[in-house]
Amino acid sequence: MGLYEVKKTVGDSAWFMQDRFGMFIHFGLYSMPARHEWVRRNEFIPDEKYHLYFKHFNPDLFDAREWARAAKAAGMKYVVLTAKHHEGFCLFDSQYTDFKITNTAFGRDLVREYVDALREEGLRVGLYYSLLDWDHPHYTIDYKHPHYNQPDAVEQNKTRDFAIYREYLHNQVRELLTNYGKIDIMWFDFSWVRDGKPDDPDPLKIGKDEADWDSERLLEMIRTLQPGIMINNRLSATRSLGDIRTPEQSQQASWVRDPDTKELAVWEVCHTFSGAWGYHRDQHSWKSSRMIIEALIDTVSHGGNLLMNVGPTARGTFDERASERLADIGKWMRLHGRSIYGCTQAEECFKAPDGVILTESDDGRRLYAHLISYPLTSYLVIDGLADRIEYAQIMHDGSELAFRTNYRQTGQFTAKTVEGMVTITLPMPPPSDEIPVVEIFLTSRA
Ligand code: GLC
Repeated sequence: MGLYEVKKTVGDSAWFMQDRFGMFIHFGLYSMPARHEWVRRNEFIPDEKYHLYFKHFNPDLFDAREWARAAKAAGMKYVVLTAKHHEGFCLFDSQYTDFKITNTAFGRDLVREYVDALREEGLRVGLYYSLLDWDHPHYTIDYKHPHYNQPDAVEQNKTRDFAIYREYLHNQVRELLTNYGKIDIMWFDFSWVRDGKPDDPDPLKIGKDEADWDSERLLEMIRTLQPGIMINNRLSATRSLGDIRTPEQSQQASWVRDPDTKELAVWEVCHTFSGAWGYHRDQHSWKSSRMIIEALIDTVSHGGNLLMNVGPTARGTFDERASERLADIGKWMRLHGRSIYGCTQAEECFKAPDGVILTESDDGRRLYAHLISYPLTSYLVIDGLADRIEYAQIMHDGSELAFRTNYRQTGQFTAKTVEGMVTITLPMPPPSDEIPVVEIFLTSRA
């Protein structure tokens, strides 16, 4: 039994909540313009012009094993790849379209190589599939569509039959879940209610939601083809569907709850390094490695997972900015992975000072104090711990830390007896790690 009662999922959530850290990969034709995966819509690029990317797509340096190894070395346990993003281009050999990777100069089924490489490295396999499709001739034009600015957009919709697109979408999902062996995660993107104000007369400012995709039938098919698969929540914008709640590029103040039942939910936040998901050459708003590590700790401290995105370049490689950060994260994870994997929000009774984030192993045996800011006094005081602490060590070298129970020391000459408090003496100078972690072995709960 774990520390918390979490909303039951249909999919197998045990491994997912154990693993905590995954890699998102956004790769497609948009990696070539290298200025946002929404470029086709952002700039209203005409179809013929966008198809130039299709004509010249050739990620000659792509090596699935390199991607898999980079993810693994960063401490990630699963990967989710955009099999198809909003642009409509498919990274897999689909029998239902010509707009696919096997019809480019590159010529190979990238999804196949990706799946094989992940399996080889012992990583779980996830696929992202965009519900939006800006290339399919029967996907109706809406405010988010690259044809939105065309004067005859409303006219064009008269020749579009969304039911045909819906079948296409179902067929492609069936292909993905039939032709590539076991898939652990299916990540759909996305449903929405409408754009603009409710009284906006623009007929193109509509939403697309579960009735459009026929999400229920889709879910049924997926569960039949891949029992145990974890499915995210974006097949509906109006109710709770699927297994995983997926807040995006935001930080949660507490454990994410199911919007309908209010139970603690299985959740995963996704983040980008610089803002865009696809490779963006000129975006300079990169987060530091330390910020990402902090985000991971913070997420786990509220019972969630982090899916960290990389946008490979048009050559099929991770650029230096991403590689550097992944290496830093991996270095930290190698020493401190125990405070992340299998960990969750710490029991409420434990109280740490500001600048310290707690996680706890879900079996209640270990408590982890992440020293985001290192106490100047070199004393770490945790409340509620006195009758649970058995042993303490600092993780970077596993060296023992002395502690006193029912004791609160705040400075060299300032201390007093306080029931329940524990003072742990930290090394000075601090270890050079990005974020040092104190590991506390707990006696079992009363
Ligand atoms: C948004 C964007 C999309 C990105 C996704 C990741 O929905 O439309 O570009 O893939 O977030 O969560």
